[in-house]
Amino acid sequence: MLAAACGGDDEVVRRDEPLRVLGAERDLRIGTAVDDVALTDDPRYEPLLAREVDMVVAENAMKWSSVQPERGVFDFEAADRLVDFAGRHGMAVRGHTLLWHRSVPDWVADAQWGRDEAVEVLREHITTVVGRYRGRVEQWDVVNEPIARDGDGLEANPWLRMIGPDHVALAFEFARDADPTAELYLNDFDGSFPGERTERVVELAEQLASAGTAIDGVGIQFHVLGRPDELDADAVVDVFDRIGAAGLDAAVTEADVRLELGAEGRPDDDQLHTQADLYEELLRGCLRAVNCDTFVMWGLTDRWSWVPGQFEGFGAATLFDDDYRPKPAHERLQLVLS
Ligand code: XIL
Repeated sequence: MLAAACGGDDEVVRRDEPLRVLGAERDLRIGTAVDDVALTDDPRYEPLLAREVDMVVAENAMKWSSVQPERGVFDFEAADRLVDFAGRHGMAVRGHTLLWHRSVPDWVADAQWGRDEAVEVLREHITTVVGRYRGRVEQWDVVNEPIARDGDGLEANPWLRMIGPDHVALAFEFARDADPTAELYLNDFDGSFPGERTERVVELAEQLASAGTAIDGVGIQFHVLGRPDELDADAVVDVFDRIGAAGLDAAVTEADVRLELGAEGRPDDDQLHTQADLYEELLRGCLRAVNCDTFVMWGLTDRWSWVPGQFEGFGAATLFDDDYRPKPAHERLQLVLS
């Protein structure tokens, strides 16, 4: 940790420089997930994003249930809005995600297709979505969270049931065919990094790469619990190096650091300091790993963060508070990048 981080040394911390500018000097993309309602309804949201990031990812708008809610009926309204927004601001887009067991509309979940028909449906979905944004989406999370929570195989989903384990490789091949220029990622998380699940993600990526599958990278989400020493840069470098040894890039794809909120619903100064430490470790890990040039956070302001809705009693997980004021973690990342 840097002493100046808490001391407030103006010469070291370039406080007025947005993360995007500092990141570009290090060849690092700084990104965030974008909430479509916020983008449409909250006038303070777009200027914050435009100032701080040069990469965006749709928080929900590109998921299967959003873009193909009925068979053959595609809805790209919100996804187009994001891609147009990115285009206006010269930002890169991460596509998220083509296949995820938590975004499956009923017509897929309930299907009883034979293998050939299931492969065709998967191909049509991926070809249509990736093809629409060909040349405009820099990285796709082709398969999201494939590792089973229980047991040692792949997470149950309709594709595993109707196609088998090779649905993962097929998804990558379809994506490659639809946009040969996009970088194709496997994306997953771990409860506490690096744990058993990380091992299995790395193993799966190694298997795919050695089988010649069209995979370019592995994203690790990093939804981090904000307690001291939860994460350190060395562990990030170690895992990213192993991903690199398989010939793949690594990316931080969904960083946030959630804090347990007390009765007042606000974090205290110690918690905010711990949060800054953990964001710092994560960013340092990515900067040190030779194959990491993408640092994406899952939201930039607490006002629109998914955390309170997902983890009861937790919140305040992003760099800016509910009222769009920067938190200590923001300045810390500026310092790390300076
Ligand atoms: C979350 C969104 O943030 C929520 O708004 C939505 O209700 C559920 O999905 N891992 C992922 C993301 O890969 O797609 C998830 O996003 C968060 C966990």
